[in-house]
Amino acid sequence: MTLPILEVEHLSMRFPVKGVARWPWHPRPTRTVLDDVSLVVERGEILGLVGESGSGKSTLARCIVGVYKSEGSIRIDGESLPARPKPAQRRRVQMVFQDPYAALNPALKVGQILEELLVVHSLATTRTAPGRAEELLSWVGLGTDVIGVHPGALSGGQRQRVNIARALALEPELLIADEVVSALDASVQASVLNLLLDLRDRLNLSMVFISHNLAIVRQVCDRVAVMQDGRLVETASTEQLFTAASHPYTQELLAAVPRLRIARGAQKGMSS
Ligand SMILES: Nc1ncnc2c1ncn2[C@@H]1O[C@H](COP(=O)(O)OP(=O)(O)O)[C@@H](O)[C@H]1O
Ligand SMILES: [Mg+2]
Repeated sequence: MTLPILEVEHLSMRFPVKGVARWPWHPRPTRTVLDDVSLVVERGEILGLVGESGSGKSTLARCIVGVYKSEGSIRIDGESLPARPKPAQRRRVQMVFQDPYAALNPALKVGQILEELLVVHSLATTRTAPGRAEELLSWVGLGTDVIGVHPGALSGGQRQRVNIARALALEPELLIADEVVSALDASVQASVLNLLLDLRDRLNLSMVFISHNLAIVRQVCDRVAVMQDGRLVETASTEQLFTAASHPYTQELLAAVPRLRIARGAQKGMSS
């Protein structure tokens, strides 16, 4: 039996509240941002994570990749991550963010960005890195023409592809995509989404796909987890969520998307 790639159990996370007057000997007040979150991602699965802005989606992602310390347990392929994971353990989960500029060093050319990363992580030598970088670029649908180009000269879609190549360079088993297409034009969005689906099939990559855009989530995700104020209120197959959401908050989210409301109405019409 294959183990789920990710198991999150009873995860909670509090941020300190700043700027509150208190006696120095009193504990610093905190605000709970994640409250007892449990979820599972099976191998090869794309789990959608939806919820309003500020509901805690990005914070959960950061806890999973180990940027934030949290209470509860996080297991990758059945293994709990230690407090100080080794580089090889850290590499198993990679994250791609909304802002395609943020993660790329503007002073380096695309080829250098990938090669440096590969060499630092001992995944290639200075001799083999250029070939590997070319291969990674081809995986994300980019040609060798971008190798000598600085990130600033790329389009938003190309930059996001470079970011995905960067994540793939570390040979992850789980990719966390946090609003990765939100900043892109609709036509570019579609091509990047197709790329993610293609990579899932080719590399048997598992994903947590975070988005506030329910129409997109419906296109790419196998299951969807719905977050409200730091709690998961519902987890269901995509099909079930979009046709028969059970939680009032999910129904509210769905109702807020006009295109989906029409689609749901049409489906209801078909079944009755
Ligand atoms: N570094 C931080 N320090 C304090 N509060 C934070 C920090 N990061 C996020 N928050 C708060 O946590 C809540 C959840 O934020 P976030 O995870 O970014 O939500 P989402 O990604 O769903 O929009 C928000 O209320 C946000 O203001
Ligand atoms: Mg976010």
